[in-house]
Amino acid sequence: MRNAATLMTTPAWLNCAVFYQIYPQSFYDSNGDGIGDLAGIETKLDYLTELGINALWINPCFESPFKDAGYDVTDHCRVAPRYGTNESMKVLIDAAHARDIRICLDLVAGHTSDQHPWFLASQRDEANEFSDRYIWTRNPWVTRDEQMNFISGNADRAGSYAVNFFAHQPALNYGYGEPARSYQQGVDAAGPRATCAALMAVMKFWLDLGVDGFRVDMAASLVKRDPAAVAIRELWREIRVWLDANYDERVLIAEWGNPERAIDAGFHADFMLHVGVPGYDHLVLGPTTFPKRAALPYFDSRGAGDFERFWRAFDFQHRRVAGRGLISLATGSHDFSRARHGRSDDDLKVLYTFLFTWPQLPVLYYGDEIGMYYLEGLPSKEGGYERTGSRTPMQWDDSVLGGFSTSASATPYLPLDPAAERPTVAAQRADRASLWHHVERLIYLRVTETDLSADSPLEILSEATNGYPLVYRRGAALVVAVNPSEATHTVSLPPMGDAAPVLEQRCHLSHRAGRWQLRVGPRGYGVYTVR
Ligand code: BGC
Repeated sequence: MRNAATLMTTPAWLNCAVFYQIYPQSFYDSNGDGIGDLAGIETKLDYLTELGINALWINPCFESPFKDAGYDVTDHCRVAPRYGTNESMKVLIDAAHARDIRICLDLVAGHTSDQHPWFLASQRDEANEFSDRYIWTRNPWVTRDEQMNFISGNADRAGSYAVNFFAHQPALNYGYGEPARSYQQGVDAAGPRATCAALMAVMKFWLDLGVDGFRVDMAASLVKRDPAAVAIRELWREIRVWLDANYDERVLIAEWGNPERAIDAGFHADFMLHVGVPGYDHLVLGPTTFPKRAALPYFDSRGAGDFERFWRAFDFQHRRVAGRGLISLATGSHDFSRARHGRSDDDLKVLYTFLFTWPQLPVLYYGDEIGMYYLEGLPSKEGGYERTGSRTPMQWDDSVLGGFSTSASATPYLPLDPAAERPTVAAQRADRASLWHHVERLIYLRVTETDLSADSPLEILSEATNGYPLVYRRGAALVVAVNPSEATHTVSLPPMGDAAPVLEQRCHLSHRAGRWQLRVGPRGYGVYTVR
């Protein structure tokens, strides 16, 4: 099976998918214990349908001591009791499929919790089946080697183990691309092969239950000392070949941060977020966000951002993956401050107009549809640290606890936004001019206009890519303009046929003497059909 050639195609559904990322502990608490759960997600499926969502990615919901909010798994094949049971997952999958919503789970492939039975066995001094499931040196002292931390002192085994992220997340052993030390095993050694087989068994378990794919956590991290990422790509290609041979229409979405490599490795899509090659950074992050970036982003009302920085990175990657896989730029995630930070509803409308009309796989982070705030300074919860402020309970309505829980007396997983005027789904649904309705319109456009599908062509129409506004054509018949700045700009456009507005806010397209002119006011945007 290794190295088998395959025709890797993208399932058609992915090109018109609009994902919604659910942080399960904070979405909807159906049993009143203060923590969101799978039955809560099922209760809200009609809400997601109304918004137009057709795919979900759920953050890890497996058994865990929750020292990294579930990215520290102790049983990959069991739903954590606080979220429900495997049966509740099956019920959720079937209920989602009945509404044509796909479900992807989070696959934590690179490490486990240090409480995982594999690791407990691996820590034992006597050799056993799991001795090589993790990377162990023969040096029993805490150390750092080849940019990795090695921890010791918790077990009888005379050695130290490599960690992938936090100290309690030992790195699984998929081997080294170019082993150079005696403790480093090659990717074809028995231990690494057994780890790979164990990972595929986990995937098989959930695929057989009906999931539509996985978002793979830290996908590039599996093989160590692999400078040109040759061995890691081979490993994922093997998995992709197996996936295609056994399951139809399932997808693998990488947290790799290098679409060119991830797609070459067999992933259907990869994120350009806060890790790896920068993409989202140049659009959204800046001096007051977490993580912090020195320069102002393009989507900033001061109008001092430079789209060219994003464009160079995106265009490079986009050309290399075109026709083979997709780039994804989410509205936000559980790992950095929300896009709302430092932005008004009008600012977000411009940003979202861009994100939902750009040639990429859109992912809406829960609560971003109403512009939930990043709550700075919250005490860390479950290893969240600065990320905690983007993980607060969903704000459904004005009732106690924002409608997050069925019990008014529950202590929620995290405090709710204390602002009296905090945004809620109920208030925004009742207001046709709200951010929520704007997102709903954008999603509707995104899934109904074939010109907006992720793989449909892009042509920049603005003369330069470093200024405001940005104007581009999608497919044959759609023109989009966005002006995140608070200044008014007027630009001339190349000759086009008749144009009709689909969405317009402080934006005006006019035609005089054979010339097209676009005037975009502060935080203006427009989507036009041209024939
Ligand atoms: C996840 C984080 C997590 C880390 C370690 C990531 O990239 O998105 O939330 O802490 O992997 O698993």
